[in-house]
Amino acid sequence: MADIILGIESSCDDTSAAVIRDGWLLSNVIASQQVHKDYGGVVPELASRAHEQNIVPVVSQALEKAGVKASDLTAIAFTRGPGLLGSLLVGTSFAKALSLSLDIPMVMVNHLQGHILANFIREPGKPVREPSFPYLCLLVSGGNSQIVKVSGPLEYEILGQTIDDAVGEAFDKCSKMMGLGYPGGPVIDRLAKNGDPKRFQFAKPHIPGLDYSFSGIKTSLLYFVRDRLKEDPEFMEKNKEDICASFQKTLIDILMDKLIKASKQTGIREITIGGGVSANSGLRDRIEAEGKKRGWKTYLPEFKFTTDNAAMIAIAGWFHYLAGERTPLDVAPVSRMADF
Ligand code: KG4
Repeated sequence: MADIILGIESSCDDTSAAVIRDGWLLSNVIASQQVHKDYGGVVPELASRAHEQNIVPVVSQALEKAGVKASDLTAIAFTRGPGLLGSLLVGTSFAKALSLSLDIPMVMVNHLQGHILANFIREPGKPVREPSFPYLCLLVSGGNSQIVKVSGPLEYEILGQTIDDAVGEAFDKCSKMMGLGYPGGPVIDRLAKNGDPKRFQFAKPHIPGLDYSFSGIKTSLLYFVRDRLKEDPEFMEKNKEDICASFQKTLIDILMDKLIKASKQTGIREITIGGGVSANSGLRDRIEAEGKKRGWKTYLPEFKFTTDNAAMIAIAGWFHYLAGERTPLDVAPVSRMADF
């Protein structure tokens, strides 16, 4: 009999539900919350309230689109953490209630694991292209910047990670500083396309090993903009495309230097990326270009699976389910989650 898994994701400001059958995606519904736009960032209390409003219609739509009834489900996969506690609580409580009422198991998933396994989502009518183990995943989001060695669906080793800010935070904070809005990544990405990436130089950190640091570049940009604005109050407006292109190039250089080092050290040439920043067009182009140069096999998730979605949670949950894992009903969500 087929395994039909319902995935539920509510870790930040997207309420999402997805259905997979034996790893094939049947539906993936995402309700993005617009209520945070005026605040320049996600407001946790507003996020959890919006999740409460969205969760029932989103799950109903996911089942309807998949053409399955709740009684057809084999198990429910849900994000336990990391994320905003109030938001996670909505998804976790919903998963518990559904699990009890349908008398089917639930399986908890680490949100980051979902991003790492996003390349395993199979879509009907599309070619299957999945990395083989072991592979390296450059996991880059608003909360994380890590290089993870993935030896099996449930076997992970963090080879390097940020010692301060995440790269997505650098995009977001610097965008705010330049008055470009939130979230910063997509805005900077768009402006960078028409700019000259070599026009301005920003300091790169010197961190040993495979770890990252992104707090210094924030300061570097802050002083740069402040000094130039003293000379010309319109400097920002006149040069924003070149600034964005140069800033983005520096972030990508930092990410790629360590990824190349990790590949050399481990001998692994199967390379994937995941997390919100993996939507960045400059980063995607660079990974492909480096891949060609270095004989890597590269796997980039589709855009719709780079940001938060329940399809990746359903896939990761299915792997846990196949491994025999079941999550007890007294499970509580966690804002930080060290282990995968
Ligand atoms: O994975 P995600 O949706 O949420 C978590 O952090 O868990 O990632 C959000 C981050 C934000 O920092 C956002 O600015 C960044 O992903 N992002 C991008 C792009 N699209 C989203 N960063 C760079 N370029 C993009 N195109």
